[in-house]
Amino acid sequence: MRIDIITVLPEMIERTLNCSIIGRAQERGLLELRLHQLRDYSTDKWKRVDDYPFGGEPGMVMQIEPIDRIITELKSEREYDDVIYTSPDGQKFDQPMANELSLLSNIIILCGHYKGIDYRIREHLITREISIGDYVLTGGELAAAVMTDAIARLIPGVLNDAGSALSDTFQDNLLAPPIYTRPAEYKGWRVPDVLLSGHEANIAKWRMEQALERTKRLRPDLLED
Ligand code: ADE
Repeated sequence: MRIDIITVLPEMIERTLNCSIIGRAQERGLLELRLHQLRDYSTDKWKRVDDYPFGGEPGMVMQIEPIDRIITELKSEREYDDVIYTSPDGQKFDQPMANELSLLSNIIILCGHYKGIDYRIREHLITREISIGDYVLTGGELAAAVMTDAIARLIPGVLNDAGSALSDTFQDNLLAPPIYTRPAEYKGWRVPDVLLSGHEANIAKWRMEQALERTKRLRPDLLED
């Protein structure tokens, strides 16, 4: 899968996504992540990509020209399944959306900044607007990094244990059950006996009960779906 991210702060995303599992996924060729400095597409001698809004609103707006230029260039090189804009008023990002996006071949993510982007970009160039939550960040870079991480770990081969992503919290609208490792007892705090029993059916039943109980207690909204 290839993800092209358009941003004025590529270094902010690079540091996050070039290490650990997602960094290794890139080294192994499972994820091709390309970061594009939007300022390189500005014709302004100061490399500016924003301007004052029409109508006298406070704040600055990202201009259409540099964004159109880079998106047009990328689209001339390959087909893109989606051109995503990160915005607090977009559709809320969740696990089903990460699953869906991980099946695509090529996506562009445009990171918003300042007061936002010229609305014509949203009308004519963007195919999907995504928010990572009901709060406002200083820019879309962290949102793009969060989405890329959640999407990329679902690409086959990225996680060592193929079953691991399937048992994640949210994959079946349930929170994951508790997990433990050695020692079986620490300061008198014991791992549940059933997990040490080796009885697979009982362990599976216990896990399901725990997942349901935790979901009911902590995220009852997930069970309403
Ligand atoms: N940009 C600023 N806030 C954001 C959010 N919550 N989600 C996505 N992009 C954003």
